[in-house]
Amino acid sequence: MALIELDRVSLTFPPTRRGADPVHAVRDVSLSIEAGEVVGIVGYSGAGKSSLLRLVNALEPATSGSVRVDGVDLTRLSERQLYAVRRGIGMIFQQFNLFSSRTVYGNVAYPLEVAGVPRSEHRARVSELLHFVGLADKALAYPEQLSGGQKQRVGIARALAARPAILLADEATSALDPETTVDVLDVLKRVNAELGVTVVIITHEMEVVRSIADRVVVMEDGEIVESGPAFNIFAAPRHPATRRFVRTVVDDVPEAHVLDGLRRRHPGRLVTLSFRDDGARQSQVFAEIVRGDVDLELVHGGLEDVRGRSFGHLTLELTGEPERVEAVVARIGELVPLTDLGTGAQR
Ligand SMILES: Nc1ncnc2c1ncn2[C@@H]1O[C@H](COP(=O)(O)OP(=O)(O)OP(=O)(O)O)[C@@H](O)[C@H]1O
Ligand SMILES: [Mg+2]
Repeated sequence: MALIELDRVSLTFPPTRRGADPVHAVRDVSLSIEAGEVVGIVGYSGAGKSSLLRLVNALEPATSGSVRVDGVDLTRLSERQLYAVRRGIGMIFQQFNLFSSRTVYGNVAYPLEVAGVPRSEHRARVSELLHFVGLADKALAYPEQLSGGQKQRVGIARALAARPAILLADEATSALDPETTVDVLDVLKRVNAELGVTVVIITHEMEVVRSIADRVVVMEDGEIVESGPAFNIFAAPRHPATRRFVRTVVDDVPEAHVLDGLRRRHPGRLVTLSFRDDGARQSQVFAEIVRGDVDLELVHGGLEDVRGRSFGHLTLELTGEPERVEAVVARIGELVPLTDLGTGAQR
């Protein structure tokens, strides 16, 4: 049984003013997340990502469909029972949401106070948590004395205080610079690997997804438009929204403005070849080009590593006798996925 199970869930908000349409924040979403997974949810602003998380942590009741967490159907619970479910789910935010009037210690101890954990047990637990996030020396500092990355690590410590099985992160690194983002993601990876916590991360940054997610879910307009293992999503995105996201970190077939520049410098036949570790070998493809007596030059693209596997898109310029080029393009097109960009003259 999955730890989080959404079955045909919709969340509709009533019209905000007379005559307006209701807002379908989440539409007919089915999704299951297994214990121990790290799932990345991506989508543009307004796609329904935060709404989806609010359904999971029982802050918002589903308009229809069912939300199960650890086998319990949230739609059937009383407010008091929902409160208990929420305590089993930690949450971190883009703006950290720390209590500015409390020290780091006070922030991390807060969930323990709320949960009624005896005060005598607070010190050991807070100290353990602060060690885990690397802030043992900051217990007496106030949030305003911390950097963004440190604040988020306090946020993580606080979210873990009540030993949740699930950690939800809503744009938790979006306010951080790239280096600090890496540090915070390292902590989140340890939360998953060492503590066994299931992590769901909302982000619009594909670098974040690439670095941490086992599985990726893409949302658009309240719906899940694509989902799958991170490698597949990056190596072979299918939905246009997914392709746009993947393009932000992976060189694919050159876009129009890039292609214009390439054509000015490379009058020959341009083709983009897609390689992946479970497909045809590069050596096979290049041997075929040499055998066909055609010249080649690599003009664009690169190879990527996602979750320990590799793939990439390489754009080549092929020059030579037109019939030979044509024959080579046909032959290598049988070995690997090929996008024929033609020559400048053909346009
Ligand atoms: N309480 C609410 N009342 C009415 N409409 C809402 C409410 N909360 C969210 N919405 C609407 O639901 C849709 C999805 O919002 P949501 O906040 O889930 O998007 P998001 O993907 O998290 O976007 P962002 O990346 O900007 O945070 C939006 O059109 C939003 O305006
Ligand atoms: Mg949001």
